[in-house]
Amino acid sequence: MDNVEEIKQKLDIISVIMEYVPLKKAGVNWKGCCPFHNEKTPSFMVNPDRQFWHCFGCNEGGDIFTFIQKMENIEFAEALKILAQKAGVQLERFDPRVSNIKNRLIDICDITSAYWQKCLHSDCGKNALEYVNNRKILPETLQTFKIGYAVDSWDDLSKFLSDRGFTETEIFQAGLTVKKENGRGYYDRFRDRLMFPIQNVHGNVVGFTGRTMKKDEAAKYVNTPESPIYHKGEILYALDKAKQAIRRQNYAIVVEGNMDAVTCHEAGSKNVVACSGTALSVDQINMIKRYTENIALCFDQDSAGQIAAERTIDLLFAAEMNIKVVKVIFGKDPDECIKKDPALWSASLKQAKLAMQFYFDRYLTDEALADINKKKKSAEKIMSEISKLKNKIEHEHWLKKLASKLDISENILREGIRKNNQLPAKTANQNKPLPPAKPEISSKEKLHGQRILTILFNFPQLIAYSQDYLNGEVFAEPEHRDIYKNLIILYNKFKDDLNKNVLIDELSKKELGLNQSYLNSLIIYIDKIYEGFDAETLRLELGALIKTFKINFLHRKMKEANQLLATAEKSNDRELEQTLLKQIQYFSEQLSDLK
Ligand code: UTP
Ligand code: MN
Repeated sequence: MDNVEEIKQKLDIISVIMEYVPLKKAGVNWKGCCPFHNEKTPSFMVNPDRQFWHCFGCNEGGDIFTFIQKMENIEFAEALKILAQKAGVQLERFDPRVSNIKNRLIDICDITSAYWQKCLHSDCGKNALEYVNNRKILPETLQTFKIGYAVDSWDDLSKFLSDRGFTETEIFQAGLTVKKENGRGYYDRFRDRLMFPIQNVHGNVVGFTGRTMKKDEAAKYVNTPESPIYHKGEILYALDKAKQAIRRQNYAIVVEGNMDAVTCHEAGSKNVVACSGTALSVDQINMIKRYTENIALCFDQDSAGQIAAERTIDLLFAAEMNIKVVKVIFGKDPDECIKKDPALWSASLKQAKLAMQFYFDRYLTDEALADINKKKKSAEKIMSEISKLKNKIEHEHWLKKLASKLDISENILREGIRKNNQLPAKTANQNKPLPPAKPEISSKEKLHGQRILTILFNFPQLIAYSQDYLNGEVFAEPEHRDIYKNLIILYNKFKDDLNKNVLIDELSKKELGLNQSYLNSLIIYIDKIYEGFDAETLRLELGALIKTFKINFLHRKMKEANQLLATAEKSNDRELEQTLLKQIQYFSEQLSDLK
């Protein structure tokens, strides 16, 4: 039994959840008001036998771990630690000899970073240490950020690692060596560089970035390439150290350089992460969003920095984050600013402006306003940004401001925005006509599907009846369809021995690949609505449900075919027209049979 299972067995989900949410017993389940959305009537249910929870209001659900994760806003690893302690379970340490490739690579990076830290303080690291001292990096900072030195050699690290039992391929896969051009062998990627290990959110070293110690080196920084454990777009430098502070202060600062992040942390700004010189990716934004909705960007003042800032702001708008932009009062980046005087950095943060103000300042310069062509372009750019604002008050606020800045009436601007919104949405394949939208699955259809399944769960013997009358394809929801097909398979395997418990156990088997969280919600739902009905009443109910369900299905199919028919007529596709007409006729015959 693994740690997770052991913890689940030892802890009672009801009492763990009761520490946060008052629950009352309701049948086999326990019930309370959902802590994840606002509600007055309880729709948050916990099933103690199966050890999971589900909310019918916000449709969230999971086990004891996901509950703590969501409640405390933490990663799985942290939830594991907390619950292990509660349960009195000792977590196993990983044994590197049996670990899989990813763990081998994490081991390599871990060992390498420790080795490079040692090198920094050895003879060959003298120059690098002097450099570090000149940049006023404190010894404790070197420790926390595991900063080290890769010596000036083509094979120093390779030798060190192969002496410790790692193969050439493994070292290469970890991104620490480069293949020789003649294809024979490898050489060390990082030579004579100050090394910053890149740690994932759990604190594991997964890659490196190295700053050259040479005066005339073209590549100032060299980074590990993508590897099985390092995906640049999914990692934020220093997030492992910043996440607590970000949550506490409810705000994150993003800087460009790794060195900037280090200096910021040293200066007490612990909520700083670095994006390593590029715009933030959607994944990175979502990582931050786990901890806060408030973000400040402090990108370099050069044009590359400003372009990255704009791109990031666009994505942040889309993610509905609150965005500010920080401009350092002194120097080109936070590091230079802080080294001059930490007070200048605090002052820069205080002067942070809202992202929209950033656009105003960037595009509505005196120069742009003086030239009508430039003015027009800038106005369009800013209007397109304003129209992205979802909040009406904000929207109005900025529109007024823009009108006054441009000295143009608000109505003209509004007109412009309306026209903009009427343009077809910009998509990558703008020229292709959009396919006709599929008729939506009605919520009634979903509900009926859910009801049918719940009856079959409660009375598996009724599957014998349903399989004769109801084809799986009729279910509009893929999850329903999958479960239904499996119900039939299980019924034919177990026949009369099939009861609810066997059924749930079988469906919970991982190899079936069913959506477990959905399955869980269904199991709780069963007890909620069909408690106490007898088999005969339910058979009648099932019969009626199947009939309406089929009628709805046929209506949807007819609609779909009619829409396609319209397209076929437009494009003069006679053959398709004929097929569709036949289909429509077939559907309507089926419908009248049912009625
Ligand atoms: P900067 O050139 O702004 O470096 O690049 P910096 O942080 O100010 O570094 P110092 O102060 O000169 O030591 C910002 C970030 O862009 C990435 C690195 O992650 C760097 O931290 N970068 C930069 C590269 O990956 N490669 C490069 O050649 C340059
Ligand atoms: Mn710098």
